Amino acid sequence: MRGKFIVLEGLDRSGKSTQVDRLIQRLEQDGPARLQKFPDRTTSIGKMIDAYLQSKTEMDDRAIHLLFSANRWECSKRIREDIAKGITVVADRYAFSGIAFSAAKGLPFDYCLAPDEGLPLPDVVINLSLSPEDAAKRGQYGEEKYETLDMQERTRAQFKLVAREMERRHPGRWKDVDAAGSVEEVGERIRQVVGVEVDTELGQLWM
Ligand code: TYD
Ligand code: MG
Repeated sequence: MRGKFIVLEGLDRSGKSTQVDRLIQRLEQDGPARLQKFPDRTTSIGKMIDAYLQSKTEMDDRAIHLLFSANRWECSKRIREDIAKGITVVADRYAFSGIAFSAAKGLPFDYCLAPDEGLPLPDVVINLSLSPEDAAKRGQYGEEKYETLDMQERTRAQFKLVAREMERRHPGRWKDVDAAGSVEEVGERIRQVVGVEVDTELGQLWM
C-alpha cells in the first residue's frame, strides 16, 4: 500500500510547523512518515532561496518564483519514491504557498501556477486559517522578507483564490481548518481531515 501525500499550508504564525510535527508523530504510530519542508533550504537552490528570504541577495520576482518551484521539482523524485515504498510524506508548505506569495507580489495568477504543473498531487491539503486579529495575538513577525502585515494580508487573499482553483481542478482535496484555539484543539481538527481514503495512484498537480 502506498503512503499518503499530505500538505499543510497557512500563513506565518498559523501554527503550521507545530502541527506538522504533531501530525507526523501521530502518523508514525501507524507506519512510516516523514517531513518535507518547503523551501528545503539544504539544497543548492534552497541556499539561494534562503539568502533571498534573509534579504542577503536581491532577485527578480519571476526568478525567485521559479527557484521555489525548482526546489519542489528537485525534491519530487524522492517524494514519489517514498510514497511508493509506503512512507507517508507530510509537506510543510508546497506549490500553494508558491502561488499565493508570488501572486501577492503582483505576478499574474496563471503564470504562478504553471511551473508546478505535473508535481506530485497531494491527497489532502490542510489550510490552517487564522483571522488577522488572532494572528496578531501570537506575537511579532520575524525578520524574513515576507513577514509583514501587508504582505501576509495580500497573501491571505490569494490563498482564497488558490483554494478555489484547487476545488475546480481537484475537488475535495482542499480542507480549511480553523487554526484558532489550543494546540490540542487544532490538532484534533486536523486529525479528523487526514483520515481520507486515497486513490491507488498518486496524481499530478493541475493535470
Ligand atoms: P517558511 O515556511 O516560513 O520557512 P521557515 O519555517 O523556515 O520560516 O517559508 C519561508 C517563506 O517562503 C514564507 O514567507 C513563505 C515563502 N514561500 C514562497 O514565497 N514561495 C514558496 O513556494 C514557498 C514554499 C514559500
Ligand atoms: Mg516562516
